Amino acid sequence: MPLMTDTAIRASFFDFTALADQPDDILAQARFIDDGVLLLRAGRVVGLHEWQNISEQLNGMDIVDLRGKLILPGFIDSHIHYPQTEMIGAFGEQLLEWLNQYTFPIEAQYHCPQHAAQMSAFFLRQLLANGTTSALVFGTVHPQSIEALFSAAEALNMRLIAGKVMMDRNAPDYLLETPEESYQQTRALIERWHQRGRLSYALTPRFAPTSSHALLEKVCQLRKEFPDTWVHTHLSESAQETAWVKELFPERDGYLDVYHYYQLTGRRSVFAHCIHLEDDEWQCLHDTDSSIAFCPTSNLFLGSGLFNIKRSWQQGVKVGIGTDVGAGTTFNLLQTLGEAYKVGQLQGYKLNAAEAFYHATLGGAHALDLDQVIGNFAAGKEADFVVIDPAASALQKLRIGNSKDIWEKLFVLMTLGDDRNIVQTWLHGRPAWQRDAGESTV
Ligand code: GUN
Ligand code: ZN
Repeated sequence: MPLMTDTAIRASFFDFTALADQPDDILAQARFIDDGVLLLRAGRVVGLHEWQNISEQLNGMDIVDLRGKLILPGFIDSHIHYPQTEMIGAFGEQLLEWLNQYTFPIEAQYHCPQHAAQMSAFFLRQLLANGTTSALVFGTVHPQSIEALFSAAEALNMRLIAGKVMMDRNAPDYLLETPEESYQQTRALIERWHQRGRLSYALTPRFAPTSSHALLEKVCQLRKEFPDTWVHTHLSESAQETAWVKELFPERDGYLDVYHYYQLTGRRSVFAHCIHLEDDEWQCLHDTDSSIAFCPTSNLFLGSGLFNIKRSWQQGVKVGIGTDVGAGTTFNLLQTLGEAYKVGQLQGYKLNAAEAFYHATLGGAHALDLDQVIGNFAAGKEADFVVIDPAASALQKLRIGNSKDIWEKLFVLMTLGDDRNIVQTWLHGRPAWQRDAGESTV
């Protein structure tokens, strides 16, 4: 019987074959194939095999030979702001001042469709150059910011979830909208883009402090009208912000209850940060099957605090890993995992490589409710993956060379790795970025 495949790639492969409920389960789901072949057809995975078991059936077929490289499922960035690409590394402030001083003025530029188009292209190239194949993305308040981003992502055939920011108070006038405008513009974007190809829409109220009751009512209405959209916002990032929410919403039972009251919790709800949660908030996240985006470089850069990853397992809350550019300091998820490890160290938690890479791949897909379509090399999954050179520098060669097994190699990769390690990034079964070309190949 001929193999039903149009592309065969030979390399080393690593993924997780099933979801895990506890960190100890992750190891059992890990699959490392030192000499393997990934078979693709029409943009999807047909199968992943040991070379020796299938090589005879591949006689006469062209094989993409990437021996010496390690292929992982594409990285999934569960929280990022594309309009903040141009302001990474803004000095000296913590969250609320950082927003006022740096973020809001930069976001004003996305009023201009040309600027949005230019930065969308730049942003998506940065994702690809770092091996990130899917992301949950904030735009700005301007619908044109999301028009530009979705248009660019569609041209790449990238799986992306995004939404325009909704906000109507506690920000400069030039970024504010009325609840009705927010509703109408969001609705129009959903109708145009949601579930179009690989694109999906996330209702994106910025955070509670920039949302009036009337605005949150509109978000609630949209979620009822479009129940398969995502919700994407911030929660309990800094202590000052959390205290402010309690002042702004005295009638609610804490920060998360502001969102929960408006029915914005749920399986497709992703809350970035979650550093200063109360016990009942952890419970509510669990009970509603909501997800957390853990953003270590951002949390350290803004001095927001240390996310309690151990507690997330104890409470049974799904966690993805986010860069949170531009409070985050890199697009690179290898570096982000390295910082996540350090956040764990400061709390006596040992984030091993298995858990770290799980959060960046299948666990991240689960947190975004995309694990049915991406996150590993299971047959039928969309073929998004990253080709890694594990030894891209003299130091890495030395250190990877003396690593005893795949676990040590992966840990070294998240400690020393960065964009130099990303050789190719594939979207839907095709190369979309190649290091030497330095450009999207689509
Ligand atoms: N909270 C509200 N807006 C933002 C933002 O743009 N970045 C971060 N890190 N937190 C926020
Ligand atoms: Zn953010």
